[in-house]
Amino acid sequence: MNTQIEEIKRKIDIVEFIGSYINLKKTGRNFKALCPFHQEKTPSFIVSPDRQIWHCFGACSEGGDIFKFLMKWENVTFFEALTSLAKKAGIKLEKIGFEDKEWDKKQKIIEINHFATQFFHYLLRRNRCGINALEYLKKRGVKSNIIDEFQLGYAPNSWRTLTSFLKKRGFSSDLILESGLAIKGVHGLYDRFRGRLIFPIKNIRDQVIGFSGRLLDENIKEAKYINSPETFIYHKRESLFGIDKAKETIRKTNKVFLVEGEFDMISCYQIGLKNVVAVKGTAVTKEQLFLIKRMAERINLFLDADQAGEEAIKKVASEIEMFDFETKVITIDFAKDPDEAIKKDINRFKQIVKKPIPIYDFILNGLLKKYSIKDPFGKKRIAEEMVNYLIEMKNPVIESYYSKKLAEVLDLEIKTIESLKRKMRFLNQKRILTPIVSKKKKEERRVILEKYLLSYLFQSKISFKIFDRLKKIIEKKYFSVPAFQKIWQIFFDFRQLKEDFILDDFVKILPSEIKPVFDELYLFSSHYLVEEKEKIEKVAYEIKKDYLKNEISQRLKNEIDDETIRQLNKELTEVEKTINLL
Ligand code: CTP
Ligand code: MN
Repeated sequence: MNTQIEEIKRKIDIVEFIGSYINLKKTGRNFKALCPFHQEKTPSFIVSPDRQIWHCFGACSEGGDIFKFLMKWENVTFFEALTSLAKKAGIKLEKIGFEDKEWDKKQKIIEINHFATQFFHYLLRRNRCGINALEYLKKRGVKSNIIDEFQLGYAPNSWRTLTSFLKKRGFSSDLILESGLAIKGVHGLYDRFRGRLIFPIKNIRDQVIGFSGRLLDENIKEAKYINSPETFIYHKRESLFGIDKAKETIRKTNKVFLVEGEFDMISCYQIGLKNVVAVKGTAVTKEQLFLIKRMAERINLFLDADQAGEEAIKKVASEIEMFDFETKVITIDFAKDPDEAIKKDINRFKQIVKKPIPIYDFILNGLLKKYSIKDPFGKKRIAEEMVNYLIEMKNPVIESYYSKKLAEVLDLEIKTIESLKRKMRFLNQKRILTPIVSKKKKEERRVILEKYLLSYLFQSKISFKIFDRLKKIIEKKYFSVPAFQKIWQIFFDFRQLKEDFILDDFVKILPSEIKPVFDELYLFSSHYLVEEKEKIEKVAYEIKKDYLKNEISQRLKNEIDDETIRQLNKELTEVEKTINLL
């Protein structure tokens, strides 16, 4: 197995691979980018072609190889990443007793969902019990080929039909329960979906991850829709109904339409508007935006024409700034949602689809409707609410455009808006900064210096030469981190044995528990201090200084060893003098 993993790594270059997902910029020997796994403004994501690893020095502070990258990017297990990369590298994986319980369970739930999808679809299509549901779909204008393409189904109005079917197929009660298709009652399991039209929900890789079920009878006093609960594979926040069908067109057009419901998605798709997905309910989550960001830069919000839809749009405005989307809004004034609009007047529908308005115009228009600009207090409200958006904007062009626009519509001077922005920024800052600063513990200066020194040493083209200079200043015990002491010692021994420093040979002799520490260290200097190019000797003396200071204070605390303290103090003065000269 290990040799195959190595072979895959040899065949797939990490820079090319990660570069196909995100934009990498060369800096020195390494590559830099905005970390794709958290939101940031300055790049702290480093990729090393020499070591074939990556590391994020920002909020996530994680790193690894191509496998780890894919696992995080696609939110899959190691085994899934391995399978996919083996395929990419054109390597046939040996059949091995590879244990991956999580993967195994995911596969089983996908399999159960697959059977359930077929079962529901069969009942809708071929069984008498599905007649009403089929009629309902016809009445709502869903075409026959679409029913098949989406594998719509019917869950019969009984307690155990599906559960019994799945048990006969050999699935255990535990697994059926874990798939969310059944609920545990006093008399054992019973079906979650009963007497409902069924929509299978798929992920981007075409796997059925969950279901939603709609009531057929409006008179029944139950929730109109019920959905799979959170399971091993269904995470509501991450799912988008229709993504499996829409993905190609989304990529091609660089644009996605976000609608609220299953029927909205299906109706749009059916008339040829194919880059549509449904968020199912109102709030658009960060996770959904993140998924979309990998496919398109433009979003058209096509939400319901009600208060909830409007609130959802405002909420998105604060999220999209982190993702840098071009977001527009389509409003419907002649129907309650896209599905109804298509049924009512398809031509009018096609017209409004062509004319989305930028989200901030939508918000400003809303404020102008809500408050009166003739009233000074009305003006104040509009200005304050709009400025809240302005100060969140990341793009200076957009920000300047709307600042001017706001000043114009309120008939104020631009400097009034600017001063309001400063005030609101200040007020917001106080609220936000306090918890963040106290939560994020700053890494000790001493550790940073040590990391930098070692990183500089390993990344240099003349590692041995630099080491010979440094070892005149640095001793192993100066490092405050035990793992760094170990690495220094191993390097020391390596230096005695070898003519040249060959990184790969060095990494091979590192004990496995040290390797992750080394990987992080190795990329560290690419992230920190790259501009400054500190003289490395100075860094070495600083490390020595910190070491001495620490030793002295330890001894002072214990009130022992006067003579040693005097000696250490003398050394410290010497070091400080040297530093000043450098
Ligand atoms: N929804 C849900 N659970 C509910 C109600 C709604 O998951 N109890 C989701 C469904 O995906 C639904 C969407 O929120 O499609 C929007 O709800 P709503 O506007 O009430 O329904 P419509 O989409 O108009 O549904 P339909 O056209 O079938 O009446
Ligand atoms: Mn509807």
